[in-house]
Amino acid sequence: MHRRALGFAVLFVLHVVWGGTALAAGAAAGAMPSAMDERVRACTSCHGVQGQGLNNDYFPRIAGKPAEYLFNQLTAFRDGGRTYPPMGYLVAFLPDDYLRKISQYFADLQPPYPNADQSDVTPAVLAAGQRLVTQGDPARKIPACIAVMARA
Ligand code: HEC
Repeated sequence: MHRRALGFAVLFVLHVVWGGTALAAGAAAGAMPSAMDERVRACTSCHGVQGQGLNNDYFPRIAGKPAEYLFNQLTAFRDGGRTYPPMGYLVAFLPDDYLRKISQYFADLQPPYPNADQSDVTPAVLAAGQRLVTQGDPARKIPACIAVMARA
């Protein structure tokens, strides 16, 4: 492995382990720091201080999304329905009511959106994205993002 990549991997693991420990400590009754800001600090290096996401598109914005949606994603990461190991490790031992609080915290944040004009994707990609959002892709059995989702 390249040395820099190795360094990053070590830092990354430390980050996730530290973050998970901090979150788990917060989940223990009576041990919660008073401010939710402190408790979700483990999330902000990847999702932005206010959950606004990072310039790197891979790290999604979570601020302002519906609390129930965020909760469903967090329980899916925890229970294996959605897989991204760093997220899974962080929430592995967190109970539902704590994940609900975290979800509500980010749902209530409304940091400004980046300027949409700065997008550098082609018009064709934008149009394809818009189609997926509004109509989905029946040929691939992808429902429209705006379709109301029922929880199984
Ligand atoms: C190591 C970086 C990292 C950390 C730390 C992290 N996340 Fe994530 N998170 C991601 C990435 C990357 C994704 C997208 C994964 C995917 O879709 O494959 C994601 C996805 C999510 C999603 C789903 C977003 C959506 O729109 O579907 C939620 C909700 C979320 N994270 C919340 C959190 C919370 C809460 C924390 C703190 C407990 C946290 N994350 C910590 C990287 C991270």
